[in-house]
Amino acid sequence: MSSPLTIPGPPGLPLLGNIMDVNPSNTWWSLRTLAEKYGEIFKIKVLGHEIVFVASAALAEEICDETRFRKFVGGPIVEIRYAVHDALFTAYDHEESWGIAHRIIAPHLSTESVADHFDELLLCTDELIAKWTKGLEPGTKFQPLKDLNNLNLEATMLTLFGKKLGAMKMKEGEEHPMIQAMEDATSEAMRRPNRPKLLNWLLYNGKWKEATKTMRGFAAELIQYRAEHSTGRKDLLWALMNATDPETGKKLTDSQVIDEIVSMPIGSSTAPCSVTATILFLLQNPEVVAEAREELDRVAGDGALRQDHIAQLKYIQGIVRETLRLSCAAPGFNIEPIPSKNGSKSPILLQGGKYQIAHNQAMIVVLAGVNRDPAVFEEPLKFKPERMVGDNFTKLPAGVKKWFGNGKRECIGKHWAWEFLMVVTAKLIKEVDFQAVDEQYVMKQDGWFNVRPIDFYVTAKARGA
Ligand code: HEM
Repeated sequence: MSSPLTIPGPPGLPLLGNIMDVNPSNTWWSLRTLAEKYGEIFKIKVLGHEIVFVASAALAEEICDETRFRKFVGGPIVEIRYAVHDALFTAYDHEESWGIAHRIIAPHLSTESVADHFDELLLCTDELIAKWTKGLEPGTKFQPLKDLNNLNLEATMLTLFGKKLGAMKMKEGEEHPMIQAMEDATSEAMRRPNRPKLLNWLLYNGKWKEATKTMRGFAAELIQYRAEHSTGRKDLLWALMNATDPETGKKLTDSQVIDEIVSMPIGSSTAPCSVTATILFLLQNPEVVAEAREELDRVAGDGALRQDHIAQLKYIQGIVRETLRLSCAAPGFNIEPIPSKNGSKSPILLQGGKYQIAHNQAMIVVLAGVNRDPAVFEEPLKFKPERMVGDNFTKLPAGVKKWFGNGKRECIGKHWAWEFLMVVTAKLIKEVDFQAVDEQYVMKQDGWFNVRPIDFYVTAKARGA
């Protein structure tokens, strides 16, 4: 066997490493650019730590093998434990709390449970559409992301926690304070690992603590609201407060209930980023809108959208999947080799020995590379929903279908997200005509735990008005 290839990467500076190759204000865009330059695998060094990035479908599939690899809880994920401790997203592999919370929460985010909330989701989406088509002066330019963030928070709170926030009544361009707190917390979590600890403590602890206080206070209010407005609802909030883990018989502590409540809107905030990208892709591809409207007319006609329509809207499912592929709304996830039982420190071979990494090497899957892998997709940059429908979708390699993460630590909210994306996308296509403010707009994204189109403005009116 020939010796492993050196993993490429930008040269970097003595002592500082690759600090200049990654923009701390837009880490994921820097990684996307590095993936475009270096291809399937590359590495950088920051503050003495080497990180390996995987950006091809084949390598992503290999490191998603749960017999060899697992989620790496490091960097920003460890930082955000300050706010949510050992919750689902942040728990280390060995922590018992993950299994307890997972078994309590998963049944309330199943396909069936989510379908039960269809009417609530529709109600919130109707409020958004009314705002865009009747509530704004005709020709008003707006950033769809802001209202979609409000919609997502509103829908998450109503469906999972039974509380109507009224976030759709926010003035144009304004977001609910919880959204700002999540932004502050996740941006700080991304930046802290790359700053000296003293600097974090001296200059950034105030904002960090404030964001945590707002998020945990928001969760505590939901709990109090439920306690004061007792209902027969057996929703996620009920389960968090009352249910017992069937395996250990344990319940969540009061603090753990808050940890999990805070984690849900942070996870869910990825969905509006995806819908914003859908609006952009639809504006760039009017023939896709025409085909989707034909499908909607065939399936739903002039009537209201119903839950049983969702499974029949195959082309719109293709639009949602193709958006997840190209927008990479959740931009990546972390993996590490499972430590050897006998303590071996032998290097780990990838692609049958083509590359070699250390036994404890942290890796990050960069979905902007994986999802646009030219070895899998013809014209990978084009928006083509048909490649995500029926057999075409089934035949795609597993590595390019990882927008919800992998295996045991895959997104627990994926059915909720799917329902939200399908309902909102179908309703917007059915009922709204958008126009781009800048017809030449080229997608540029930024973000922290999720990425979203920036400086993207549209106008909207009711379909055909
Ligand atoms: C388009 C929408 C969404 C995308 C693309 C997405 C993507 C992901 C990804 C890639 C992971 C794995 C992270 C990792 O390995 O570190 C994840 C985990 C998670 N997501 Fe989502 N997500 C979405 C929506 C949601 C929603 C709606 C919720 C909650 C209702 C949610 C809650 C979570 C939680 C709690 C985890 C941690 C699961 C665990 O480790 O057990 N996500 N998500």
